[in-house]
Amino acid sequence: MVARLRAAGVTVRCLVRNPYAARRLRAQSIEAMFGDLTAPDTLQAALDRVGTVLNLSTIIREHERGDFRRVLHDGVRNLLRAAAAAGVARFVQIGALGDAAARGNPRHSYLYWKEKGAALVDASDLDATVIETSVVFGPGDQHFTAIALTLKWLPCFFIPDGAACTTIFQPIHVDDVVACVLRALDGGGELPRRVPVAGPERLTYEGIVRTIASLIGRTPRFVRVSPRITRAALRGIGAAMRYEPVTEPLMDLVGVDSIAEPNGIADVFGITPRPLTERAAYLQAVGLPELAAWVRKRPRHGIFVVDQDVS
Ligand SMILES: NC(=O)c1ccc[n+]([C@@H]2O[C@H](COP(=O)([O-])OP(=O)(O)OC[C@H]3O[C@@H](n4cnc5c(N)ncnc54)[C@H](OP(=O)(O)O)[C@@H]3O)[C@@H](O)[C@H]2O)c1
Repeated sequence: MVARLRAAGVTVRCLVRNPYAARRLRAQSIEAMFGDLTAPDTLQAALDRVGTVLNLSTIIREHERGDFRRVLHDGVRNLLRAAAAAGVARFVQIGALGDAAARGNPRHSYLYWKEKGAALVDASDLDATVIETSVVFGPGDQHFTAIALTLKWLPCFFIPDGAACTTIFQPIHVDDVVACVLRALDGGGELPRRVPVAGPERLTYEGIVRTIASLIGRTPRFVRVSPRITRAALRGIGAAMRYEPVTEPLMDLVGVDSIAEPNGIADVFGITPRPLTERAAYLQAVGLPELAAWVRKRPRHGIFVVDQDVS
């Protein structure tokens, strides 16, 4: 996102919470300031002379009980307050899709707290928009890379039985999300407070796996496993990796369709999203570096694409 915003001529300052991320950004002449959404005192300096805030922060696992509330709700509240105090003109946030019942159900803890955070943005006095997206793919992604690696390296593909097979997604390419963000940064009061955006294809999880398999020349041999075994496996993966691509809270979203109805990408932003089949060539090349990045004990978001030419 940062590289693409800069390629579009946007001057970017990043709020980071670890020295490794700061070093990587500064090596590319990108301004990085330390801060943490859960520590309000760290936000004011980072917002000095900032015109627009783009909140991309999220977590998909709790290391301690209450982390979802602390980051996805309290963190947004802290950021909104700091933005208002700093005189920020525009506030754009990325959110997640899911039906109203799921958003209101604490059992879906990730989505529940994302919704609570988005509601704070709705209620704020700032000129603000929340872009709610389906699952995002593109170089450096988590889920699609994990599926491709599993298809490449394992003799069979373990898929949770039941609703997981029928839950529907509309994968959206990161470039299309960036295009929406660029318009939202300018859009101001013309835009709705919430804009759901998604790609052009509706695919079940199994359909996504089949699509990726055919793109990378594999034939998936599915083995259905019970949700209980899937959860145990995810706990094992979580213990082995510091930044695992799939987590139990995401598993809790099984059965919650991630679809945009209506799809604001065309209706609101006037963008024609491109399908997975046209934009997934990068998955042919994923391999050990991606696995290593998940296992290494240091922050590594976007690490795979740091040197990528996006001009
Ligand atoms: N990826 C998808 O498929 C998808 C789908 C729907 C919606 N979204 C939304 O799109 C946005 C971007 O997602 P992503 O996949 O790019 O996420 P990501 O790679 O996991 O990045 C999230 C970022 O948030 C930062 N962060 C977490 N807690 C923070 C805190 N307390 N203070 C400051 N920063 C904090 C992380 O910092 P560290 O590097 O220090 O951990 C990380 O850089 C999120 O709002 C997400 O909910 C993504």
